[in-house]
This record gives sequence, structure tokens and C-alpha cells, in this order.
Amino acid sequence: MSTGELSRVPGVVQQSSFDVGMRLAQRHGELEGRPAEFDLLGLRWDLLPEVFAPIHTASTELFARWLPYPSGGKFLEIGCGAGVIAVNAALHGCASVSAVDIVPAAVRNTELNAARHGVADRVRVLGSDIFDALDPDERFDVVFWNSNVVPAPADFDCTIPTQRAIFDPGYAAHKRYLREGIARLTENGRLFLGFNSLGDIARLRALAARMGLRATEMQRATHRTGNAPVTFQLLEITATNRL
Ligand SMILES: C[S@@+](CC[C@H](N)C(=O)[O-])C[C@H]1O[C@@H](n2cnc3c(N)ncnc32)[C@H](O)[C@@H]1O
Repeated sequence: MSTGELSRVPGVVQQSSFDVGMRLAQRHGELEGRPAEFDLLGLRWDLLPEVFAPIHTASTELFARWLPYPSGGKFLEIGCGAGVIAVNAALHGCASVSAVDIVPAAVRNTELNAARHGVADRVRVLGSDIFDALDPDERFDVVFWNSNVVPAPADFDCTIPTQRAIFDPGYAAHKRYLREGIARLTENGRLFLGFNSLGDIARLRALAARMGLRATEMQRATHRTGNAPVTFQLLEITATNRL
């Protein structure tokens, strides 16, 4: 049952995506009972405090399995978190992987996991606000972000690091990701966004349309996150005038 359907059941009060997001950010930041390591995709991973925790979500694994990894190519992950997707890209044949995150603990966490899985020589990890730390001329065969989909007011201040993984104040980061991401591609490069039903897909599509872009759903799956079902979508962003 969707959250919309839940709200029509007598006695059930619909939670706003903002409220759900606040609870998720808290859960991802909680230290009590949080393991220092976890298993995913048949491998063991380090998990540092303050980092979005793949143990609390199906998204990391779904996107890691759904994404195309360009063999011998260049892969960029925005918002790498614990580094599972970036390291997986290197393990699946990408010659060079760049992984960036705005949260310093996520940068350290991805470095740890790249070293743990023997791919530190081809995974470069940077602290960056979206594309800011990259050389302006750098281009990639695949660019991906499992993004902070929950809309927040433009003046919302993320006071704990895991809120950055969940909330995008004013959808400013999504706007930048679409506009700058499409310009970061090689000739046949592909731009992907990991989205879910806590986000505002209509707002995303309107932003894309204003830039001459469209978002096409490539994969979808619904899983329970806490008490509520969440639908995860892998979107591909392309120019409207591209066939
Ligand atoms: C939903 S989490 C995904 C983490 C990881 N990729 C995964 O799938 O497990 C979103 C990530 O984006 C990062 N992030 C949020 N805003 C960012 C920004 N402006 N620039 C770079 N990274 C950002 C967060 O810190 C967080 O690690």
C-alpha cells in the first residue's frame, strides 16, 4: 500500500516525506547497535559513524546491481557514502572511478573500502559539493547519484551529517546535478539518478524539462523502509532532443 493509500484508511495518519526523512536521518546517524562492518553483495564493508548506512536501506544494493558499469571506462559517483557502489564499479571492470561526498566521514569510509577490496589504485575519493572538486574538463562514461531525494525548505539547515544524505533544501542540489551532470558526459556517456518515492518526482521532471532534459525510469522495485513501503527507481537523464 502506498503512503497515499495509507492516508485514506480511517485512523491512519499520513506521515509527510519530511517527517519520514527526519526519522531516517536519525536512524542512519544512530550509534547504538550500529555495526562497524556489514555484509552486502557478498562482500564485507567498513561502516564509519555519520555515514549513510546501507544496512538501513535497500537502495544501495538495488542501485549497485542495476547500474551499468562501463568496461574499461570512467565512472563517477556523486555522494559515495560508505563507498559500496564506487568500489563495486571498480570491481566490475571500470578502469577509473571517481567518488565524491560532501561529508568528510564518507570520504574516509570510501577510502577504507577501496583499500579493503584492493581497488584503491583506481578509485579516487574526494571531498566535494557535487562536481566542485573535479577538474572542469573531466568527462565520464557513467555518472550516478543515489541522491538526497526528500525536499526541504530552501533555508533548511542540515544540522547532522546524515540529514545531508536525505534532504535537498530547495531541490538546489538536484537542479545542479541535472544541469552540470549532463555536461560531464563523454560522447556516449550516460547520466543516472537513484530516486525513490519519498522524493518529489513531479518537481524533478519539471526541473529537467526546463533544461531540455527528461528522466526515464530504467528500473523500479518496492521495499519496506521502516514501517512504510518505498519504491526505488533508477532514472536515466537524457536530452529531450536525443533519440
Ligand atoms: C542517499 S546517500 C547515498 C550514499 C551511497 N551512495 C549509497 O548508495 O549507500 C546520499 C549521499 O550523498 C551525499 N551528499 C549529499 N549532498 C551532497 C553534495 N552536495 N555533494 C556531494 N555529496 C552529497 C550524502 O552525504 C550521502 O552520502
